[in-house]
Amino acid sequence: MKHWRIDEVGWDRFDRSRIDPEIVAIVQAAAMVERNGTDYGTYLNRVFHDDPAFCAAADNWSVEEVQHGDALGRWAMLADPGWDFDVAFARYRSGYKLPLLAADNSVRGSRSGELIARCMVETGTSSYYSALADAAGEPVLQQICRLIAADEFRHFKLFYDHLRRYLKRERIGLTSRLRIALGRIGESEDDELAYAFYCGNQPDGAAYEHAPNIAGYMSRAMGFYRYRHMERAVGMILKAIGLPPRGRFSRVAAWGAWQLMRSRYRKFRSQIERKNVLF
Ligand SMILES: [Fe+2]
Ligand SMILES: [Fe+2]
Repeated sequence: MKHWRIDEVGWDRFDRSRIDPEIVAIVQAAAMVERNGTDYGTYLNRVFHDDPAFCAAADNWSVEEVQHGDALGRWAMLADPGWDFDVAFARYRSGYKLPLLAADNSVRGSRSGELIARCMVETGTSSYYSALADAAGEPVLQQICRLIAADEFRHFKLFYDHLRRYLKRERIGLTSRLRIALGRIGESEDDELAYAFYCGNQPDGAAYEHAPNIAGYMSRAMGFYRYRHMERAVGMILKAIGLPPRGRFSRVAAWGAWQLMRSRYRKFRSQIERKNVLF
């Protein structure tokens, strides 16, 4: 049961004069990662094989993620008519495989751990599409990002509700929850996004290098965040690991996380400027 359909987007309001090329590059990459959601759905079905309620929810979740990819891909083709989403996605699929695709049990060590990791991903995507919606001047992209962000907040709640159920049986401690959460956040700088950025923005046949591609992606994506997006994201992270999402600790954590992100942003930005690469 999707909450919206692609043909409900007001595509006829597309305004070419309001496209920001910095956004097009990261939308192309995000479209591929989102469309790849089916593989993650397969993995979740294996990890939770004897939990039919969760498997049904995971199937529905992956359909929504694929729709995010399709909507973003369609917009990116309007914005950049020379770009073909199907071709770029086929290239992505042939060069990048989810590292956990062969696993029968959660790579996080427990089902609760898996659900904490899922909550981190949904925290990242909900804040990211909120930030992108606020930054996008182009009205169709703005609408798509708002629709996607609403799905991502719902996805967080979905995984969080199942997490609470599993924590009653598995009882993993705060330190483990924190380690899993921070570990998954750190993985956002792995190949999944970097390789998508490469497929979206580098010509076929160009050699893939991780560093310039993750810098190309992050130096744009992180620049769209505002403090309010980080504050909300930190509240969600704390909630998922079992700490109060509001209050003094949350405010201090949000400030620290913001400083960390700004410093990563400056580092990626200077890498791009120093190398004067095409991105
Ligand atoms: Fe998504
Ligand atoms: Fe999601």
